[in-house]
Amino acid sequence: MKPAHVQFMLRHSGQVLISAIAALLLLGSAACTQSHVGGFWVLNVSRGDGTDYKTFFELKPSGHQVGGSVWIDYYPQTITEGSVSGDKLHVVVGRNPQDRVTADGAMEGDRLHLHIHFPDRPDADGLAERTTPQAVAPPARLPVPQLHDVRDNGLARTPPMGWNSWNKFAGKVDDAAVRGMADAMVASGMKAAGYTYVNIDDTWQGDRDAQGNITSNRKFPDMKALADYVHSKGLKIGIYSSPGPQTCAGYEGSYGHEEQDAKTYAAWGYDYLKYDWCSADRVYKPADLQPVYQKMGDALLATGRPIVFSLCEYGMGDVWKWGAKVGGNLWRTTGDIDDTWKGMEQIGFRQFDIASYAQVGHWNDPDMLEIGNGGMTADEYRTHMSLWSLLAAPLLAGNDLRTMTPETKSILMNKEVIAIDQDPAATPVKKISEQGALVVAARPLHDGSTVVGLFNRGDAPAIMTVSWSALGLHGASSVRDLWAHKELAKTADSFAAEVPSHGVVLIKVKR
Ligand code: GLA
Repeated sequence: MKPAHVQFMLRHSGQVLISAIAALLLLGSAACTQSHVGGFWVLNVSRGDGTDYKTFFELKPSGHQVGGSVWIDYYPQTITEGSVSGDKLHVVVGRNPQDRVTADGAMEGDRLHLHIHFPDRPDADGLAERTTPQAVAPPARLPVPQLHDVRDNGLARTPPMGWNSWNKFAGKVDDAAVRGMADAMVASGMKAAGYTYVNIDDTWQGDRDAQGNITSNRKFPDMKALADYVHSKGLKIGIYSSPGPQTCAGYEGSYGHEEQDAKTYAAWGYDYLKYDWCSADRVYKPADLQPVYQKMGDALLATGRPIVFSLCEYGMGDVWKWGAKVGGNLWRTTGDIDDTWKGMEQIGFRQFDIASYAQVGHWNDPDMLEIGNGGMTADEYRTHMSLWSLLAAPLLAGNDLRTMTPETKSILMNKEVIAIDQDPAATPVKKISEQGALVVAARPLHDGSTVVGLFNRGDAPAIMTVSWSALGLHGASSVRDLWAHKELAKTADSFAAEVPSHGVVLIKVKR
């Protein structure tokens, strides 16, 4: 062997040895990290309003893969991608970009430094502590009461009208925004048009005090003073909670504190409660829906203060069949609306079959309005307003009332359309015809007239016709266009109009 070859072999075998040692070290460190990251972890994150939320992890490493779950707002989600390499942990939950949460971490001593990226809230960064499986277990189910009919509270004789914070502000609502909205409700003419309730949705809550009383967080320094302010404007004020341990945004719910919370709301001077199922499904069975809502219905009545009771459980258990019995003045019939044509029309046009369950004091609620939030055209928002009014739905504006365009005002404050919604007869709307994208619906009013909506869900304008006989009418003595605000020429047998794409022609027909 030539000396050069010997030299090469020596050098080569040395490198092999070094590589082997390095690989062993790496494997060792990975194995060590893996055995460390396994188990239950909790990361406590400050929201910046004086409250914290917790994110739990159960990490199950196997080689370089990591499985397990992440609990976001106490809801477990399966880890869809997970790896540990060196001391770096990477996990992902959710498959779609809009609900994908990623967490990156590294051990620091006996704690796990985590950085979590959420699609819908600020990133969280901090040292997670070890915890136990019990930390993610729901509390024991409380017994539910026997069913009985809760006395009608006499409120909401017509569908409630007002404003709610969620659609526009979500977690950013605060005392100043609510006061601003009350001011704007008066100044804009909304109050004069019939809007009354200023409703705070989720994220006002703080922790419970030593006596278990609910408090508000830093965004809401004084709930009673806020109610007094809204009342001083001649308006009413609403509040929000959940029968579960947490609300949908992960704040403190009313679980086990139902009577106590109802008394607190009454003492603060609140006039309306939206009670949102949320985490109650971690504790209760579907069969518990009715008694659980009844419990709060009774608790509100027992306060002696008139408080409108709004059930929010997305239509589960055919709530329209029993919502009135538990003291509900309105009940959500669907999942959440969003500010898109697709979202709104899919909710709105699905409501006709249950319209007959609405009655004076007890209304179907296809969710709050998106008018003025910018995601739909004026024609689409007119469809939204017309459809909700034909359905006798609550009219709860969900936009910023301080900055409404004249067009938004003209839609939300169309008094002729509002009068349809608020018609005292509360006769249910009926679908008269549906041909592809073209839907005709009509509703008799207390004064003997009939309101007819010609809706075009299609992508091109369409000529739509309805015969008076299809409406049970023998001719018309007058026809008024409720968006154009003008009388139309009478016709003998039928009515025809060109309806814009995604738009509506809404007419009031007198016999
Ligand atoms: C649920 C409700 C919404 C809103 C949010 C608040 O999604 O359906 O209307 O109240 O909770 O977290």
